Amino acid sequence: MNLENIKKEYQQLVQEITNEKELYDLRVKFLGKKGILTEIMKGAKDLLPEERPTFGKLVNEIKEYISSNIEETKQILIEKAIAEKLASEEIDVTLPARKYSLGGMNPLNKVIEEIEELFITMGYSVAEGPEVETDKFNFEMLNLPKDHPARDMQDSFYITNELLMRTQTSPVQAREMLKAEGKGPIKIICPGKVFRRDNDDATHSHQFTQIEGLVVDKNITFADLKGTLEYLIKSLFGENKKIRLRPSFFPFTEPSVEVDISWENEDDEESIKWLEILGAGMVHPNVLEMAGFDPNEYSGFAFGMGPERIAMLKYGITDIRSFYTNDVRFLEQFNNTRND
Ligand code: PHE
Repeated sequence: MNLENIKKEYQQLVQEITNEKELYDLRVKFLGKKGILTEIMKGAKDLLPEERPTFGKLVNEIKEYISSNIEETKQILIEKAIAEKLASEEIDVTLPARKYSLGGMNPLNKVIEEIEELFITMGYSVAEGPEVETDKFNFEMLNLPKDHPARDMQDSFYITNELLMRTQTSPVQAREMLKAEGKGPIKIICPGKVFRRDNDDATHSHQFTQIEGLVVDKNITFADLKGTLEYLIKSLFGENKKIRLRPSFFPFTEPSVEVDISWENEDDEESIKWLEILGAGMVHPNVLEMAGFDPNEYSGFAFGMGPERIAMLKYGITDIRSFYTNDVRFLEQFNNTRND
């Protein structure tokens, strides 16, 4: 083969190379032990002696040319591969980030936590009790003997004659008083689930939550109760809120009150709008006595509220069932709105 043609053939083939593997094969084809140029060199022996040096020189020149061209081509291929990789993996920093949705706290738990924190700062501790309760703690220790008509106020889920799902968090106050063995002070709040036979609708649920508060000490007066409730309501709903107490009845408190919160027109006595928000009273002497406290020495107040009602008022929620059905569209409205 003509030496010039070999060079041309190489130049043509190298144009088509797209990767290092092909380039390696091309090198073997031309420069390998059995490659074209090696074969050509073998032909030198058939030449006239005076022709050999020129021939050898030419072959070497072509060898060098191919060899250095292959090196150059290799560099170009490597750079091209890097450029392609960079282009395909390009990160567009101007694209909007992927949105991660964070879980939000249920507004009911938010309100419960807020109330807990409020009372903790006032030196209260948080106490809990069983949800399956004995008749003794749910009723009897709270001044509701077996045939007491006030038991009808709370339709109960009985498990046996003596066991029921607690209808209120008040049994926790009886349990905590017993634990204290007749010695004050007691300052607790008791949040938890309660259960009553009720048909579920927008404002009723057979299971809901309550927070009970109890203070027992020497010289606790109705003024302490009123001050505490006022502070609670203003902290939860705003400084402009007022409270109004109406006489009421609970077997375990005497006197008992229903507490209303001013909702609209707080500055005008005439048109002010009141909403009922919780029940409270001074701990009944019978309750103190049954739990081992001397009612001549100790007095106390108790209050009970429904966090659902508070959360509904606070956030404008109209259906109590929204708290329990875990619809994310409802829940995600409360993301990061803890203290608003
Ligand atoms: N336990 C009462 C209820 O469920 C509320 C309450 C608690 C009232 C403490 C007064 C004092 O209705």
